[in-house]
Amino acid sequence: MCFFGGGSAMKAVASKALVIKINVAFLSFFVFAYVALLLLRPASFYDDSGNCALRGGCLFMKKAEGGGLLKKGNRTAMETTAAPSFLKALGGGARVALVNMAEEEAEQWGVHRRAAVAVAFEPVSEHLEWKDLFPEWIDEEEENEGPSCPEIPLPALPAGEVDAVLALLPCGGRGGRDVGRLQVHLAAASVAARRGRRDSRGRVRVALRACAAAPPPMMEVFRCDEVVAREGEWWVYAAEAARLEEKLALPVGSCNLAMPLWEKGTDVVYDASKLAAPASAGRREAYVTVLHSSEAYVCGAVALAHSIRRTGSTRELVLLHDRSIAGEKLRALAAAGWSLREIERIRNPRAERGTYNEYNYSKLRLWQLTDYHKLVFIDADILVLRNLDPLFHFPQISAAGNDGVIFNSGVMVIEPSNCTFRALMARRADVVSYNGGDQGFLNEVFVWWHRLPRRVNFLKNIWSNTTAEASVKNRLFAADPPELYAIHYLGIKPWNCRREYDCNWNVGDQRSYASDPAHATWWSVHDAMDEVLRPFCRMTEARRAELEEERRWAEEMRLPDGHWRH
Ligand SMILES: *[C@@H]1O[C@H](CO)[C@@H](O)[C@H](O)[C@H]1NC(C)=O
Ligand SMILES: *[C@@H]1O[C@H](CO)[C@@H](O)[C@H](O)[C@H]1NC(C)=O
Ligand SMILES: *[C@@H]1O[C@H](CO)[C@@H](O)[C@H](O)[C@H]1NC(C)=O
Ligand SMILES: *[C@@H]1O[C@H](CO)[C@@H](O)[C@H](O)[C@H]1NC(C)=O
Repeated sequence: MCFFGGGSAMKAVASKALVIKINVAFLSFFVFAYVALLLLRPASFYDDSGNCALRGGCLFMKKAEGGGLLKKGNRTAMETTAAPSFLKALGGGARVALVNMAEEEAEQWGVHRRAAVAVAFEPVSEHLEWKDLFPEWIDEEEENEGPSCPEIPLPALPAGEVDAVLALLPCGGRGGRDVGRLQVHLAAASVAARRGRRDSRGRVRVALRACAAAPPPMMEVFRCDEVVAREGEWWVYAAEAARLEEKLALPVGSCNLAMPLWEKGTDVVYDASKLAAPASAGRREAYVTVLHSSEAYVCGAVALAHSIRRTGSTRELVLLHDRSIAGEKLRALAAAGWSLREIERIRNPRAERGTYNEYNYSKLRLWQLTDYHKLVFIDADILVLRNLDPLFHFPQISAAGNDGVIFNSGVMVIEPSNCTFRALMARRADVVSYNGGDQGFLNEVFVWWHRLPRRVNFLKNIWSNTTAEASVKNRLFAADPPELYAIHYLGIKPWNCRREYDCNWNVGDQRSYASDPAHATWWSVHDAMDEVLRPFCRMTEARRAELEEERRWAEEMRLPDGHWRH
């Protein structure tokens, strides 16, 4: 080849030829590389996180992550990839649905080709993120088009019944909040609920394999008390099919309301008759709250019980308390309607000694109330204004949104279970709660939750500090008859202010929580309480002094709202 030709004409011809040659060389290299990739490295269809990266064709996911199927000479690895033993017991004629798994792979676990029922589904786009399923804000009051959810494709159901469902959960991914992982759970649940053979108690057999390094299967989908065996990396379930059906009927995330309160723009009372017969018919249900570490919320709990009864609810009221509440206060709480149960408070092992949230994990005791089928937990700084009984129709965890992808733990639907309790306790040390409180903790454990309208746990804060926000919220706080189901009194509690005005106005960093109409609503409920209960809302002398100090500070600062003049 002549790269350095003589004359300028020659040069031009030569360089053209060169360009063509280089192009051809590159082209053939790419074609070769592409073919090589296709033929030689099937594993490259999957990205590093173990998710399928090839749109539309990922019936068969990567084999066991972390180094192939059976590591020779490593007994541990052998055991963890062995077949779940119930498969053998099923016998030769049994049909096994395979979710996210190749037939060849299933053969290694003793599922004969003839018995295998491959279940295909289109994997969600890798661009779909958790926050798309759990957006911070949704148009829940249908001011515009109303809320909607992205689609999570579920498998086409196989023909005929299957005796068991086997699923491989992705090993990598984004930990607990992984859309691909949720999809595999829902796909397995869908096949199990709709095609699984039910035993006499309506249960279906499901086995999920979760890699040792990955989180365990999502107990939001497959309840931990339905685990019948743990074998290596396999979790074997006898799952109640009806319960799975219920979950599949809900929106895929908090992108839509689990409990719609609105009929296209009109604010109506929730019509529970639209629901099928309650899942919990004939079972015990209760409202419950928790007091621990101090008596600071006794008045709040008294007012809460009173407010629930005012809405006409006859559900049981249960209050968990530790030894910090004195006898006289306990009698008042009982008189207000609470059935009392003493608990041992639970420390957050990550909290610093003496901090305000050191024992906030006491709320985990709610799961030990196993004589109840379902609970609606309500924080003691919440006032209920409209009947919340319809919440008992919704599953664990249904709650209102807080911010980002998380729920507010002030009002939650809970399904007590000793098994869930143990699972929560086991995670106390390793879960990092973003705020050190129970809310941060529960949001790491129950990442898949169901959205209740914000009106069931309406936060008393004017976060944008605009008159528009203040006027909309203040109208709702004052509405009579009430439009809100419950107000969550953030900031300084109403019983720690005088009735004349909201003393949050007088404290620099609490001013966004100030609302005189919300304050007045609390006091009007208070005033309707039995007169033997009202004294439990009196301020201590120390608090009175502190209040006056705060007022004087506001006066010195000449705060423009002028509440300090009162
Ligand atoms: C065997 O496998 C386990 C996990 O699968 C791993 O933690 C361990 O280091 C392996 N041991 C050897 C000797 O390879
Ligand atoms: C849960 O555990 C408690 C003891 O901690 C026990 O009294 C109760 O019966 C258990 N509930 C169930 C449903 O097993
Ligand atoms: C922890 O509980 C206390 C009441 O005991 C409450 O004032 C506080 O807001 C809670 N903190 C968090 C972060 O949940
Ligand atoms: C709200 O805005 C006003 C001015 O518009 C300002 O003076 C005040 O400090 C703000 N309050 C808060 C809580 O940010």
